[in-house]
Amino acid sequence: MKKVVISGSGVFTPESIVTNEELVASFNQYVDLFNAENAEAINAGEVAALEYSSCEFIEKASGIKSRHVLYKDGILDPNTMQPVFHKRPEDQLPEMVEMAVAAAKEALVQAGKTAADIDLIICAASNIQRPYPALSIELQKELGAGGYAFDMNVACSSATFAISNAVNAIRGGTASVVLVVNPEFASPQVNYTSRDSHFIFGDVCTATIIEAAETATAENSYEILGMKLKTEFSNNIRCDVSYVDHCHPEVDPEAPFFRQQGRKVFKELLPLVADVIQGEMDRLQIAPDDLKRLWLHQANINMNIFAARKILGRDPEAGEAPLVLDTYANTASAGSIIAFHQNKQGLVVGDKAVLCSFGAGYSVGCLMLQRNR
Ligand code: COA
Repeated sequence: MKKVVISGSGVFTPESIVTNEELVASFNQYVDLFNAENAEAINAGEVAALEYSSCEFIEKASGIKSRHVLYKDGILDPNTMQPVFHKRPEDQLPEMVEMAVAAAKEALVQAGKTAADIDLIICAASNIQRPYPALSIELQKELGAGGYAFDMNVACSSATFAISNAVNAIRGGTASVVLVVNPEFASPQVNYTSRDSHFIFGDVCTATIIEAAETATAENSYEILGMKLKTEFSNNIRCDVSYVDHCHPEVDPEAPFFRQQGRKVFKELLPLVADVIQGEMDRLQIAPDDLKRLWLHQANINMNIFAARKILGRDPEAGEAPLVLDTYANTASAGSIIAFHQNKQGLVVGDKAVLCSFGAGYSVGCLMLQRNR
């Protein structure tokens, strides 16, 4: 089988930062406004009073301290509680493509490739800003790439599933150099008036270049030794926004938003993650001590510690299972790629590592990697 490598990666990080302190302050102002406006109904027992959020809870339950967002205005206004931004005209790049251009350029430089070398672009993310024409095709035009392009969505596992598609396309002969981009413009899907979820997501875009080892000229590359993808249906992480919404006589105010049963997710998803990673380690005869890095999905610090312990059979040492969610929050499918991009340099040739995403679906995408050069 053809040896395939990740030869470059890139991350675009929006400039604006929202800290837990800022988010909780505006949320608590919103709670005061809501409870005052609804005092009568609350006293009559018809409406439940809202409760304050807290930075201590957020940091302890999730490990998140701050997040980057494309549009900060509105999120912190207790009368707005959502990002507000104008719809861009057709002759302007939509946000997700704009982010992807920046991340792709960094990945191309790292891989020592130009856009002309790319013959497949996959735009893979938890939310795709419009159904068609595919964002990836607009990106293809913007970069000046050839070949073909398509969009795909497997929620938080979009990036790993896309990389596996890239590997299969290279092995199947339909592409030779693939650009995968993961523009996770997650902030619009957050219900900033829900204390359970207002802190969870941030915006970012990641990019990777995947190609055959024989064409790679980058200083470093990471061979994809194995790939294991797994899905199992669950309603515990859900978003219902749809192009058919306007046809429904009833309006679902929750439809645009991410919602989850966080505890159930925690309990049900982790055994699946451990099974997938351990199964792939067994298949490839990789012992826990052979794994020099765990680039895990970045949703929750406690989940990552639990998964790392399960895989290694001990507590992870500092830097072994790097976290980026403290400053990026949950960035859906981009999280494990940010962790890879920012923490891959310490490995030496021959070192093995795992890159694994998990999330809605449920879905788990596991890539076993080995530094190749
Ligand atoms: N501030 C203060 N208290 C809060 C709060 C907030 N922002 N949000 C919830 N609470 C309260 C709850 O109301 C609850 O109170 P109660 O015990 O009186 O009922 C208590 O804190 C615990 O809430 P719970 O939701 O059970 O917390 P948790 O420890 O499960 O942490 C998550 C919540 C979401 C961080 C955690 O479940 C999680 O990360 N799950 C996995 C999520 C995941 O990976 N999703 C994938 C998405 S891609």
